[in-house]
Amino acid sequence: MLYVDGKWVEEGQAAVQPEDRGYNFGDGIYEVVRIYKGRLYQWDAHLTRLFRSAREIKLALPWSAEELTQLAKELLLKNNITEQDDATLYLQISRGAAPRIHDIPSGIKPVIMAFVRPKARPVEDLKKGWTAQLVEDIRWLRCDIKTLNLLGAVLVKQYAKDAGAQDSILHRNGIITECSSANLFAVKNGELYTHPADHLILHGITRQVVLDLAKANGIVAHETVFDIAFLKQADELFLTSTTAEIMPLVSVDGEAVGNGQPGPVTARLQALFEQHIH
Ligand code: PDD
Repeated sequence: MLYVDGKWVEEGQAAVQPEDRGYNFGDGIYEVVRIYKGRLYQWDAHLTRLFRSAREIKLALPWSAEELTQLAKELLLKNNITEQDDATLYLQISRGAAPRIHDIPSGIKPVIMAFVRPKARPVEDLKKGWTAQLVEDIRWLRCDIKTLNLLGAVLVKQYAKDAGAQDSILHRNGIITECSSANLFAVKNGELYTHPADHLILHGITRQVVLDLAKANGIVAHETVFDIAFLKQADELFLTSTTAEIMPLVSVDGEAVGNGQPGPVTARLQALFEQHIH
């Protein structure tokens, strides 16, 4: 069952208003949350980011954190998610429906929508890694807001797919930002490098978990900008996201990263992450 604008509806029964601003303008926000063994992972961090995204787009949420938590729990119950299940929860809030004007209509009521989907962990890929393609970051200048405006992400992901790679690594004028729907880390001489959490990247929750795990385990991490030349001579690369976890990247533009195999620092962080989620 899905939760749509205050009602529980069956699959296939949900309807979108033609002038819903999420639909017309991408005017809304979302979160993708992991469910490991029937339990929400990092839920509070997702809620905090959702409220921040809402503030940044001047959307006053009529739901409290407690109400959204209750909704998430009910969603798991109604979909019979048990401790055997790995899944994802998708939660979207559109600004709502109103006659189509660009500026924010007054008195508009946000529309909430949420569903869960079974989703196995990418265990095989985590061992093998993914290939990546470098591409210009064509997205806007507020990538820190998790908005429904994802056309830039769609196009850079497709660019990678068309080139036979599994994801894209984005750069702005040669400075590496992140991936199409994940954050990027480089490893050099045993230390981590990742773009600062500013307006040019999404402040990924998995990214923060990795930084925390690194700190707690004596792995030095630098939140700093680095360029394509640095990327190309990195010992290891990996991306992080809710669904891809800590995914090694074994080649960029067809050239091997390090020896072309997932590296030891990545493997160590994967092992720490594995302990963290269970
Ligand atoms: N993507 N960067 C971008 C542009 C993202 O879209 C995402 C998440 C991340 C990683 O954030 P987190 O660790 O909080 O999942 C980084 C989600 C999973 C998606 O759109 O499907």
